[in-house]
Amino acid sequence: MSDKPKIDEISGVETTGHSWDGIEELNTPLPKWWVWTLMATVVWSLGYVVLMPAIPFPGGDGWSYTKGLLGYSQREIVTRQVEANEAALDVYRDQIAALPIEDVQNNDELFQVALASGRSLFGDNCAPCHGSGAQGAVGFPNLNDDDWLWGGTLEDIQVTITHGIRWEADDETRINDMPAFIKDELLSSEEARAVVEFVLQLSEQDHDAALAAEGETIFADQCAMCHGEGGEGVAMMGAPNLTDAIWLFGGDRETIMESVALGRRGQMPAWAGRLSEGDIKELAIYVHSLGGGE
Ligand code: HEC
Ligand code: HEC
Repeated sequence: MSDKPKIDEISGVETTGHSWDGIEELNTPLPKWWVWTLMATVVWSLGYVVLMPAIPFPGGDGWSYTKGLLGYSQREIVTRQVEANEAALDVYRDQIAALPIEDVQNNDELFQVALASGRSLFGDNCAPCHGSGAQGAVGFPNLNDDDWLWGGTLEDIQVTITHGIRWEADDETRINDMPAFIKDELLSSEEARAVVEFVLQLSEQDHDAALAAEGETIFADQCAMCHGEGGEGVAMMGAPNLTDAIWLFGGDRETIMESVALGRRGQMPAWAGRLSEGDIKELAIYVHSLGGGE
């Protein structure tokens, strides 16, 4: 390599002095636009580091970071947005708490808020027993259908949620106990077998017709006062309809016998005191909207 820069004859550009098989490398300067862009990004990044949160370093109880002169924090922005949303919702919640439940139901805006809050309250408080879709389980009623133990109007549902069912800590709880007919010797096991056949007949399942005929009188004497003359259920009594295919505990011969022999005492907690009145209204509106509301 000589000290004097060599100029390529064709392009007039200085060469680097490197050559491969007679091909010489030109020392073409970088385009101006490229250099300026690079400079601009360097300046931008320096400014960014000074103004914005940028560099993490170990500190405090874990990691800290340079906060930047502008004090920008996405976490704070989100917190402020959440607070603003809550404040906006609180206005609705206060209205819901103050109005009678039908007025909430009939006000489009309040109804939508109640439905959304009710859904999330249901997931937190009720889903463990009734299922996340309110589909129920053995002993825990499905709340989507129009088969109600204690009634499916807005008020009925509101009362059930407020005071619970067989919840002794609440003075106004819903109470009516199905007797344990065999255990408490109200019926002999033959009589019980007969009345079970009659219940199978009511629900249009296979049954022994002769026994069922005997059972019909026993039903009229022992069961109709709660379950109704035709076994269609009585909402004030919490006594289920025995003529349909919807069962709380089960509709096969053995399970019906178990219900008759030992009685049932399904318990549902009272929510007064644990949830606010407004929360309970929102829940009642949500449950009522699930499909079976009366
Ligand atoms: C610990 C379990 C449990 C929890 C929690 C619970 N329930 Fe219940 N719920 C029951 C049981 C059991 C029954 C049926 C009681 C019976 O046999 O009469 C019931 C009945 C009901 C009924 C009456 C259904 C009908 O057919 O009349 C409604 C409405 C209801 N629950 C709503 C709720 C709501 C809303 C919540 C949440 C705030 C909730 N429940 C939480 C156990 C629970
Ligand atoms: C004092 C009122 C009362 C009387 C009397 C009564 N029941 Fe009941 N029965 C109920 C109630 C309330 C329930 C729901 C129990 C619960 O949820 O814990 C029930 C539940 C049942 C069930 C369970 C239904 C299901 O969906 O799983 C059957 C079956 C039943 N009763 C049959 C009878 C028969 C048969 C008689 C008469 C021999 C009778 N009951 C008498 C109140 C009564």
